[in-house]
Amino acid sequence: MKTKKTIAIIGATGNMGSAISKSLSKGNYRLLLKANEEDKLDVLVKEIESIQTKAEVGVAVCPAEAGWEADIIILALPFGAEKEVAKKIKEVANQKIVISISNPLNETFDGLVTASDTSAAEELQKLLPNSKVIKAFNTTFAADFSSPVIDGKQVDAFIAGNDEEALQTVSELVTTAGFNPIVAGDLSISRTLESMQLLLIQLGIKYNYNWLAGWKILHN
Ligand SMILES: NC(=O)c1ccc[n+]([C@@H]2O[C@H](COP(=O)([O-])OP(=O)(O)OC[C@H]3O[C@@H](n4cnc5c(N)ncnc54)[C@H](OP(=O)(O)O)[C@@H]3O)[C@@H](O)[C@H]2O)c1
Repeated sequence: MKTKKTIAIIGATGNMGSAISKSLSKGNYRLLLKANEEDKLDVLVKEIESIQTKAEVGVAVCPAEAGWEADIIILALPFGAEKEVAKKIKEVANQKIVISISNPLNETFDGLVTASDTSAAEELQKLLPNSKVIKAFNTTFAADFSSPVIDGKQVDAFIAGNDEEALQTVSELVTTAGFNPIVAGDLSISRTLESMQLLLIQLGIKYNYNWLAGWKILHN
């Protein structure tokens, strides 16, 4: 029998953190959630347990504890906080999968704060040289998780990283969340993936997609 993987979600009560936590509770995983506000976290845990009665959900007191117990760590945090928390989990995240979902948007949503020759995910990899950093869930809106099928089509979710086994493991998470996983390439492809979401945000604002939008590659 396959052993149950533990997934730590840091920033679990945010828009993305709670959407990811709820959707992964459908899978055969143990979830370990960490958030700053304990009351909010308590409400989220109860909500997950009421939707998925078989879900195994725990709460961690700090990022290091969450990272220590986890096989996979999801940083559901803004880019700045992602870098801050990376320092706290560096030792415990050795050889583990660390998922970067962040889009390093500037304050006016018309550009990225990262230089053109890097990405949030690559900056995270520099801070966590012994971890397997994977870019995932950055091209899907939080609102998409409750309905990953839009206009009759399953939304694609792009994944990038340098470790084949880790890419496969994260593809399984993406599938559990209801999206169609597409491995786009190595970690440097995160530059494109983060720019794609900047474009989708800009188009969403321009055409009022109401945050329910996603990418779909049409092919034969
Ligand atoms: N929203 C989307 O549709 C979407 C889609 C794709 C990717 N993303 C990316 O996902 C990430 C999270 O976005 P979001 O919309 O979920 O943001 P959010 O709702 O503001 O949630 C961010 C979470 O991060 C926590 N946090 C902030 N600073 C922290 C720090 N220094 N240490 C520890 N925790 C901290 C917050 O906790 P407290 O509130 O308790 O402080 C909050 O739970 C961002 O990088 C964003 O670019 C978002």
